[in-house]
Amino acid sequence: MRVPELIMKKRDGGELTEAELKYLIDGMVSGEVPDYQMSALCMAIYFRGMCARETAAMTQAMTVSGSVVNLSAISGIKVDKHSTGGVGDTTTLVLAPMVAAAGGVVAKMSGRGLGHTGGTLDKLESIPGFRVGLSESEFISQVNRIGLAVVGQTGDIAPADKKLYALRDVTATVESIPLIAASIMSKKLATGADAIVLDVKTGSGAFMQKLEDAQKLAELMVEIGTLAGRRMAALITDMSQPLGMAIGNSLEVIEAIETLQGKVGGRLLEVCLELGARMLILSGLAESTEEGKALLSDALSSGRALDKLTQMIEAQGGDSACTRDPWILPVARCTAEIRAEQGGYVQRVDALTLGRAAMAMGAGRSRKEDDVDLACGIVVAKSIGDAVKPGEPLAKLYASSERLMREGLDTAGQAFAVGAAPVAPPTLIY
Ligand code: URA
Ligand code: CA
Repeated sequence: MRVPELIMKKRDGGELTEAELKYLIDGMVSGEVPDYQMSALCMAIYFRGMCARETAAMTQAMTVSGSVVNLSAISGIKVDKHSTGGVGDTTTLVLAPMVAAAGGVVAKMSGRGLGHTGGTLDKLESIPGFRVGLSESEFISQVNRIGLAVVGQTGDIAPADKKLYALRDVTATVESIPLIAASIMSKKLATGADAIVLDVKTGSGAFMQKLEDAQKLAELMVEIGTLAGRRMAALITDMSQPLGMAIGNSLEVIEAIETLQGKVGGRLLEVCLELGARMLILSGLAESTEEGKALLSDALSSGRALDKLTQMIEAQGGDSACTRDPWILPVARCTAEIRAEQGGYVQRVDALTLGRAAMAMGAGRSRKEDDVDLACGIVVAKSIGDAVKPGEPLAKLYASSERLMREGLDTAGQAFAVGAAPVAPPTLIY
């Protein structure tokens, strides 16, 4: 095959075949197809798009470019959840124990945070001793024993995606729905779950800021997964304001534990119940969303969901005392509050701005190799639509130095708007 002809075909709006896409992806990984040709191809795809069949073929080639995790030694339907990334999004830490306590089999591989969005592995590492780097056999035996494990990727998952993403990042071709779908799904399919529930975020703090784009991405990913023989479901959820009230690694673990303790509810719990209900349906454990939510609520109120988290922390070497008293987790010592200058109603609690503020304080990474400060972050006190009095706190910031605190305050202060007119909270689940 001649690569310039394949690029030309896509440039002129043609459809690439499965064999052609496999040739291009394999060639990129082996080095036979140079970066400049892949870059031109990505730009052609950016402008011309790809149909579901092409995207599924590209995804498949990317999935098998590295190791494919074999979970067949785990009995039952292995169910996974993937979020396209948000701010204050602690769903995994609430959802995975709840679903496991309701009988689901959760063998989850998570990632680290990048940019303004957090990552589950970083959050878990704020628990002293917790190991995210289990071997494949440790991972499998833990899931067989307690129905739950959350670990980093074992092996070399989808190296084609790593290479392609790095190219897209420097060629202005990240924002292509088929390329995003192939990127996410290649990693998900390689990590072996039988059933996958997708949480596609929309709003200012999300990758897909517009609802219609989120919908297209969700539909395409469901189709790719279905074509690959997986049970799939997707929800589109709001990320115009942070999902939970905490942003930052240990602060989000604290919020997850308090949610599992039954002390806090709100948006985070609501999204977890909706996603978890779909996970139970795909696992064959519930017939309807209502039944799924009832099973999860029971796991929560009986304390079994919290026990499941305790079991997982202990199985992975962590100190589980935090599930009784989460505030023993590391929390940065400098604190400051942002207060409302005027009274009225909260018009805006911008997720992207708060994510950037937390990053400025050290909670996130701008490059993959950066370290994160697990103890810093923001706890938001108000949500869009809430009434506030003059001087009432809107958020509390935690930083490890006065300098970092000033940087956090400068940015976080811009996230809020208070005005006289009442506003309705944004739709949470579309
Ligand atoms: N997340 C991914 O994993 N890949 C993309 O291309 C975009 C978001
Ligand atoms: Ca995430």
